[in-house]
Amino acid sequence: MAYDDDFDGSGDRREGGAFRPMLRQGKRFSQEAAHRPILVFEDVFKSYRAGRPVLRGANLVIERGEFAFVTGPSGAGKSTLLRMLYRAENADEGRILFMGKDIARLKDDSIPFLRRNIGVVFQQFKLVENWSVFENVAVTLEVLRLPEKLVRTRVGEALERVGLSGRGEEPARVLSGGEQQRVAIARAIVGEPALILADEPTGNLDPQLAIDILGLFEEIHEQGTTVLFATHDRTLLEQRPHRIIVLDEGKITDVRRGLVTEDGNFLSAPLH
Ligand SMILES: Nc1ncnc2c1ncn2[C@@H]1O[C@H](COP(=O)(O)OP(=O)(O)O)[C@@H](O)[C@H]1O
Ligand SMILES: [Mg+2]
Repeated sequence: MAYDDDFDGSGDRREGGAFRPMLRQGKRFSQEAAHRPILVFEDVFKSYRAGRPVLRGANLVIERGEFAFVTGPSGAGKSTLLRMLYRAENADEGRILFMGKDIARLKDDSIPFLRRNIGVVFQQFKLVENWSVFENVAVTLEVLRLPEKLVRTRVGEALERVGLSGRGEEPARVLSGGEQQRVAIARAIVGEPALILADEPTGNLDPQLAIDILGLFEEIHEQGTTVLFATHDRTLLEQRPHRIIVLDEGKITDVRRGLVTEDGNFLSAPLH
C-alpha cells in the first residue's frame, strides 16, 4: 500500500488541526498516540570512545507541537542527540521513544517509516547541485510513490512555504546559500513529517539570513510541526523565548522559557 506510511498509525500529518485525507486512506486516527509526547529520552547514555561519554544519562520529554532549541558548546553532543533520533546512531543504554515507540526496537522495515516522520535539515544544505530545485525537493516523495500530479502540487506548496515559488526549474547550484537552505527545508517538510530536526541550519549563513531562516522554522512550527533546532549561536537563542535544551558534559539542562524574560531582558542562563 503506497499510502500506508505512518508507522504507528497515529496520524501525524496535521495541517491546521485537520489530518490530510490524502495520506490517511484507510487509517484511523489514534487519540492515544496524539496525546503521547512526540519524543522521550529515558536515561540515555552514548559514547563513541570508552571513558569519553557524550551523553551521560539524558532525560528529556518533547511534547507534540513544541519548538525547542538544542544548544551547548562544540562537541557537547547536539548532532549526536539528533542523529540518534533518526537512527543514524544508536544509544548505548536507555530508551528513546518517538511517538511512543522505542526507536532501538523498530524492525529494519520500520526505519523508512521513522525517517518519513522526521525531516532533517543540516548546516551543509546537502543538495544535489546539478538537480533542479524541484528535483531536490521531490526526492523525499519518491518513496511514497505518489502520482506525478500530486508530487507537483506538494512540491509547489513546499516551495511556496519557503518563499521559493516559481524557482523549481533552476539548478540548485545557481541559488544563494540562504536560498539553498530554503530548498533543503522544503525537502524536509514536503513529506509533512511530525518532527523537524535542524542541525545548525544557519551555521553557514550571514547573521541576518540566519534570523530569516529561524523565522521560517517558526512558521513551520506554527503550522503544527514539532521543531528541534540545534545551534550554538547565542544571537538566535536570544531572538525568541523558546525552550532551550542545553547539553554540557553529557547532561541536559532544560531552560523552559528561553532567554528572553517578559520585560524583554535576557537571562544570563546556564549556557557556556
Ligand atoms: N562518529 C563519531 N566517532 C567518534 N566520535 C564522534 C563521532 N561523532 C561525534 N563524535 C564525538 O562526540 C562528541 C560529540 O560530537 P557532536 O555530537 O558532533 O557534538 P556537537 O554537535 O555538539 O558539536 C565530540 O567529542 C565528537 O568528537
Ligand atoms: Mg554538531
